[in-house]
Amino acid sequence: MSIEELDFVKGFCRMCDDGFKQGWHERNGGNLTYLMDSDEVTAAKPDFLEPHGWVDLGMQETSLAGRYFLTTGSGKYMRNVLEDPAHNIGIVEINDSGTAYRIVWGLLNGAKPTSEFPTHCMNHAARLEVDPSNRVIYHSHTPGIIEMSNLVELDDRTFSRILWKMMTECVVVFPQGVGVVPWMVPGGVDIAKATSKLMKKYPAAVWAQHGLFASGSDFDTAFGPAHTIEKAAELYIASRAANGGSDKFLNAITDQNLKDTCCDFHVQINQDFVDCR
Ligand code: 13P
Ligand code: ZN
Repeated sequence: MSIEELDFVKGFCRMCDDGFKQGWHERNGGNLTYLMDSDEVTAAKPDFLEPHGWVDLGMQETSLAGRYFLTTGSGKYMRNVLEDPAHNIGIVEINDSGTAYRIVWGLLNGAKPTSEFPTHCMNHAARLEVDPSNRVIYHSHTPGIIEMSNLVELDDRTFSRILWKMMTECVVVFPQGVGVVPWMVPGGVDIAKATSKLMKKYPAAVWAQHGLFASGSDFDTAFGPAHTIEKAAELYIASRAANGGSDKFLNAITDQNLKDTCCDFHVQINQDFVDCR
């Protein structure tokens, strides 16, 4: 079986296409990485090419030493991934000290992993600390979240509470809430550090005026919360617009409603983000 026929590669390509169809990936916007398990590496290895030279990551992540990632390419368009995986995505190996990567499959014609690869690596390491089953890190240019970041105070509590209260089941999907990274230059180690710090607390983080990072143990559990968070943000924008721009809505989900929902669904809400009676 060729690499492109393996289930995790097909799932990866499908997710890129799903995100594009949602309108989250204009031009080369957004990126996706997937941490392969040992069976997937074994299945893919026969198709590996002569490895490229090692490239410095500009950081060290010892917990990822020797691991393999499937990653989107820098400057590549999500809309093209499904049609031509080998030119738009690739498999990279991390070296034994967690300081460099090399391409072992795909990313043909001199392509490189996403410019956000440092953020993805740090986020993988951060999520693995709190959830050893985490495999997926997904960055999307979600319009509702970007719009919301123009209007709302950029802090974790404010964002989480607004999103939870837009749709009843939001609090069940992301009961820890979301983190918020203020505007920063993308593609570097500074934004990677700021994001991964939040990803130890939350499974998703907003990048103000930029988009969203989401994580999960598989493609569904990363895409699902990203979809839910973005839908809640769009509901907020639409509700405000329909309300003459005001955020004082006639009817709103209360803190008690949030707590009651979590109780019934057996999930633990982030207590710091709800008012106690
Ligand atoms: P890449 O094309 O390098 O993945 O960059 C896209 C992006 O969204 C940067 O934040
Ligand atoms: Zn981006």
